[in-house]
Amino acid sequence: MVTDDQQAPPFELTAPGGAEIDDSMSSATIHRLFADPLPHEVVRLGDSGRRYITRHGWMTEAAARERIEQWKLHARAQAEGGANGNKVVLSLFDHTGNWSQPWEDAGYQVLRFDIQNDPDMGDVLAFGVDFFVDWFGDFDGMDVFAILAACPCTEFAVSGARHFAAKDADGRTAAAVELVHQTLRTVEYYRPSIWAIENPVGRIGKLAGLPPWRLSFDPCQLGHPYTKKTLVWGRFNADLPIAPVEPVEGSKMHRRYGGSGIGTKNARSETPDGFAYGFFMANNAIDQALLAIAGKYDRLDSRLLREALGAGIDSEQISALVSDAYYMDLDDAAAEAALREAIGIAA
Ligand SMILES: C[S@@+](CC[C@H](N)C(=O)[O-])C[C@H]1O[C@@H](n2cnc3c(N)ncnc32)[C@H](O)[C@@H]1O
Repeated sequence: MVTDDQQAPPFELTAPGGAEIDDSMSSATIHRLFADPLPHEVVRLGDSGRRYITRHGWMTEAAARERIEQWKLHARAQAEGGANGNKVVLSLFDHTGNWSQPWEDAGYQVLRFDIQNDPDMGDVLAFGVDFFVDWFGDFDGMDVFAILAACPCTEFAVSGARHFAAKDADGRTAAAVELVHQTLRTVEYYRPSIWAIENPVGRIGKLAGLPPWRLSFDPCQLGHPYTKKTLVWGRFNADLPIAPVEPVEGSKMHRRYGGSGIGTKNARSETPDGFAYGFFMANNAIDQALLAIAGKYDRLDSRLLREALGAGIDSEQISALVSDAYYMDLDDAAAEAALREAIGIAA
């Protein structure tokens, strides 16, 4: 929770774990960003991997690589039409650029923030309305389509449990929670179709007040032969394609990359490209048009949005039909009526 003695946030947070929620106009009234995932939306990639292995056996690493290469080609092919050029992806705590690379390949406007790469512009704690207006013109005319965040995990991951008491006492835990809250504020400010926070299994969900996680995976389900149980919270399609290989390297994170130096820390926390491209495959705006539009207009009936897409009304046309009623008047009934009429005309 954000407490009184913490620095005043640069933008309001009504999100989970956040400050006061005014009952007359709660965040739930104007968006559903932080809704719990429905049971059928929660995916354990380990289960998908086991089903695959029962039928086909492990993939060889070469075959898994080939599959990931196909995902890379798929992302790059999307850049050709230029359809993604007006969509922004904000990638927070992205030192390597790995998680956001597929989006860049596909022609999205990707902005990465990591304090190691840029101590001023890369500091997520510097975020606020002024920050985004002054530096980025608030992305005027563009949708912030996705926000990805690989939040620092050393204060949360179970692998560091023996240090929890010291970190709780000296403020390091509170500082780490503040980074998660800053991420949630950014999500609430931009209201992207897709948002995701990734962390190894640990106490981040509880301490930061996140909704229940939506995806669990180990890198070995996505082409990398090691385990590192990772959870992903947020609003996104968790049904990633898989490339399951035998984790012959075991928990590589501990065995081969032990130590607290910055080099080993970075190596331990590098986002695996199999996950990055699998996530892109399941969540990009072209392949997942309904997810994209239903996230953008998340108070509207998603069945109606599906019908509209099915009737050949594309995302831009849907926006033209509903955005005034939806954003300016908060009149969802009028927005849905406009959609119904357009579907009637299109049918
Ligand atoms: C768990 S690592 C994530 C690394 C990521 N998976 C990758 O592939 O680069 C957390 C990252 O958060 C960055 N970080 C820590 N505090 C930050 C801050 N205040 N603003 C921006 N980045 C920060 C660190 O530099 C580190 O790279």
